[in-house]
Amino acid sequence: MKILVINGPNINMLGIREKDIYGKNSYNDLIKKVQSFAKENNLDVNFFQSNYEGAIVEEIQNALGRYDGIIINPAAYTHTSIAILDALKAVNIETVEVHLSDIDKRESFRKKSYVSLFATKIIKGHGFDGYIEALKYFLNKGF
Ligand code: DQA
Repeated sequence: MKILVINGPNINMLGIREKDIYGKNSYNDLIKKVQSFAKENNLDVNFFQSNYEGAIVEEIQNALGRYDGIIINPAAYTHTSIAILDALKAVNIETVEVHLSDIDKRESFRKKSYVSLFATKIIKGHGFDGYIEALKYFLNKGF
């Protein structure tokens, strides 16, 4: 099973940005954690992170025919990007939306998620474990 893990703007700043919210571990730590779970479970996982909306749209478009599932933390674009929503709809690859923090318990502008209109599962507030839960969701589906 091939899974693409997409992270949006400022996720590369994990371990530096707002540690009280996002924790002290880095983006590389996140990749290592997800990669080791993937290896143990024979999952083929690729990672993409960008601070640019258009680059994320292009990565989603390029996933067509290449991936069985997408795990996406669109970060701030969660709350603004119809373009990312439309790209997900266009390729129609099953998608799990992950947020490190619980976006429902923060500022009101974070409550709205466009990607949630397409995602089949939304995991929020579980930190790095949220990505593992998303992989487990795909494992249980089995394809
Ligand atoms: C986030 C929540 C977003 O509101 C925020 O803009 C982020 C990260 C999260 O993982 O909790 O950058 O998606």
